[in-house]
Parts: sequence; structure tokens; C-alpha cells
Amino acid sequence: MPQLIVTTREGETRTLEPATGLSVMEAIRDAGLDELLALCGGVCSCATCHVHVDPAFADKLPSMSEDENDLLDGASDRNERSRLSCQIRLSDELAGLRVTIAQAD
Ligand code: FES
Repeated sequence: MPQLIVTTREGETRTLEPATGLSVMEAIRDAGLDELLALCGGVCSCATCHVHVDPAFADKLPSMSEDENDLLDGASDRNERSRLSCQIRLSDELAGLRVTIAQAD
């Protein structure tokens, strides 16, 4: 079971042990962290699941789609580590992934 380490907007860090195959968004939501609104349910149309990903995992992430990139363009807290967490599926390769929930717009 891959671990996922999440830092909230308040700076609290939680280590989750989600099932393989869940998205990062689903894992965070299922853990009861309600900072991540994920309003569209994971279909890449809201950007309320915005996270910043530890650069150490940058080359293991799935590539960013044009839709994801366009949505992130509208997010005020975008930086070079920004991703939509619903677009990252957990796998053994991503074990230990660290993400920080981005500030809300
Ligand atoms: S949950 Fe809406 S874009 Fe990720």
C-alpha cells in the first residue's frame, strides 16, 4: 500500500495509506481532509483539487493534459509544482509521494 504524505494549508502533515489505484484527490478526500473541495468529482473541470507536488517526484508523475494546464492557469497559487490531484493516480512507483494543498482562490 503506497504512502501519501499530505501537508495542509495550515502546515499540518498527515501520512495516509490509500489503496493503489485511487487518485491523490480521492485519497485526500477519503481521509477526511476537507480543504480539498474537489467540486467536479475528479473529471478535470474545477481546479479545486490543486496541490503542489514535491519536485523529487516530478519525473514519476503522469504528463499534464492541456485541460489540466488550462485549469491551472486560472489558479492564483499556481507554480512549477502545481498539479490537479484528481489527475494523479497512486501507484507503487509513487509510494511516499508528498503533496501540499494549494491555497484556495
Ligand atoms: S476534482 Fe475537479 S479538477 Fe480535480
